[in-house]
Formats: sequence, C-alpha cells, structure tokens
Amino acid sequence: MKVVVIGASGQLGQDIVNAKPGLVKLVGLTHSDIEITDKDSVFSVLTSLEPDVIINTAAFHKTDLCEDEPEKAFFINAVGVKNLVEVCKSMDSILVHISTDYVFDGAKITEKEPYTEEDLPNPINIYGISKYAGELIVKNYLDKYYIVRVASLYGKAGASGKGGNFVYTILKKAKAGEPLRVVDDIFMSPTYTLDAAREIWKLILEERPFGTYHVTNLGYCSWYEFAKKILEYAGVDASIEPVKHTEFKTKAKRPLWSPLKSVKGIELRPWEEALKEFIGGVSTQLWKL
Ligand SMILES: NC(=O)c1ccc[n+]([C@@H]2O[C@H](COP(=O)([O-])OP(=O)(O)OC[C@H]3O[C@@H](n4cnc5c(N)ncnc54)[C@H](OP(=O)(O)O)[C@@H]3O)[C@@H](O)[C@H]2O)c1
Repeated sequence: MKVVVIGASGQLGQDIVNAKPGLVKLVGLTHSDIEITDKDSVFSVLTSLEPDVIINTAAFHKTDLCEDEPEKAFFINAVGVKNLVEVCKSMDSILVHISTDYVFDGAKITEKEPYTEEDLPNPINIYGISKYAGELIVKNYLDKYYIVRVASLYGKAGASGKGGNFVYTILKKAKAGEPLRVVDDIFMSPTYTLDAAREIWKLILEERPFGTYHVTNLGYCSWYEFAKKILEYAGVDASIEPVKHTEFKTKAKRPLWSPLKSVKGIELRPWEEALKEFIGGVSTQLWKL
C-alpha cells in the first residue's frame, strides 16, 4: 500500500510518519513539496505518485488569525481540500482528512457529555466554519474517505514545526518563572499526536467503514487541570492561577466545551496516561527549550 502524508513536517504529520506500519510505502510531503490551494501543484505532485491513500494534515489553524484572514482560512481549509478531493476521485484514492473539535459550538456543556460522531456540528468561529466546510466537501463529493476529528494536540514536534504547543508553553513559562494564569472554564480532550497517528493507521489498515471518526485520548479536562498535570508529570513546582475565559480577550470566540468521544469503536488510552508518557519521553529536550 502506498500512502502520501501532506504536512509531513507538522506536529501530527511527523508522528504519522513515525508510526508508519512496516508494510506501508510512505511518501511524506512538506509545504515546499506541495501547495494544496494550487490545483496544478496538487495534480502534478500526486498523480505522479499514484498513492492508494492520501492523509491530509495541512491546515490554517491559528484560530484568532483566521478571524482576520477568512479568505486564507477558506482557501486552505476548504478550497485546498476540494483540490485533494478531486485528485482522489481521479485516481480512485482514499482521502484521510484531519478535522477538529472546533466544528462544535460547545452548547453540550449543559449535558457535560462529550461530542460524538452523531452530534451535529455548528462551528462558531472562522477556523471552525472553514474546517467544517472542508468536511462537507469531503463527505459530499467523495465516497472513499475518513474524516478524523482530533483536538488540543501536543506532540514532540510542536505545531507548524516551530516547537509550539500548550505543554511546551506551560513548561517554558514555568522555567522562566513567568506567572501562569490558565482558564478553568473551557473543557477539551487533550490528545497526544503519536496516539492519534497510531489510530489513524489502524483505521486505514483495518479497512474500517468510511466516514467520520473522533480520535482523541479518553476523557477531558479544563485547560487549568491540563496545565496542573503537565507541571506535576514534569516534576515542576510552580503555582498556577485559575482564571475565567472572560479575562482573556481573544479575536475568535471559542467553544467552552469541546470534549470528543467515539461511538464507533475508537478507544485511545486516557489523556493523563498519554501525557505522562509524552513528558517522560521528551523531558531532556524540554529543559533545553
Ligand atoms: N494543533 C491542534 O491543537 C489541533 C486541534 C484540532 C485539530 N487540528 C487539526 O490537525 C491537523 C494538524 O495540526 P498540526 O498541529 O499538526 O498542524 P501543523 O503542525 O501546523 O502542521 C500542518 C502542516 O501543514 C503544512 N501546510 C500548511 N498549509 C499548507 C498548504 N497550503 N499546502 C501544503 N501544506 C501546508 C504546514 O507547513 P508550514 O508550517 O511550512 O506552512 C505544516 O507542516 C490540522 O488539520 C488541524 O486543523 C489541530
């Protein structure tokens, strides 16, 4: 089986490459290899490779910037996805498209139940709306697809290969002695990219039915609880102040509740267990940050 990963140098992309099963022939494409918003680039690069499966991790996901640059958000997160859908159709390839918990509005906070694949999206910011547009394009134009919704990712590479994710940010700030103030009224499912990557490979290799899947570590917490666990597992003694989201003015509205779970048989380990392993594995690197 030949698989192409788009966004191979990104946070999730790198772990998809790292978790590659032995029998798979993999080609990793970085942004300098392919521009998904450019149909000519998409067709010339991908038709020359003729993959059985294309995994798309590329996105414009800086939530606040998306509010200022909606054209760019829709260009990458929806038009780019349409280009990939078309090339998949032309080669009869499977598309695995990565989406987000931000397709939901957070209204399920009243039930305190995670969103499942059966819940109807209703995104409340440009990032989420553009990602949902991408999902609809995949779902309504293609038969052979997996839409994989992930959430609150952290991995060794950090987002955009620039070392950024919440775990690194908290530890960097603690190390610099900066005050830590973290919201305790926004809830989500923190997810280790290596765990998500392994599950994505399982979906493909086990030939699970096509459709939409929630792939996050089990459970949920507030960003404050997440930060507390990060410090605990890293053995760092620093105090954190819990604050309300209204104390931070942000361009984009965010869902206050976006935990995900699967009712389609996807079961990853609890988020605490994954976080502990991640911090143990990168601890020496962390202190060089
Ligand atoms: N990070 C999170 O917490 C989170 C949460 C929920 C869902 N997601 C979704 O998960 C996916 C992966 O996220 P991530 O954290 O791994 O992101 P990432 O580290 O930013 O990786 C994305 C990769 O895609 C490349 N890329 C961006 N625009 C492209 C384009 N137009 N054409 C080709 N390549 C392009 C980027 O290259 P350059 O950096 O060189 O541009 C980067 O290597 C995204 O679909 C995102 O929407 C992420």
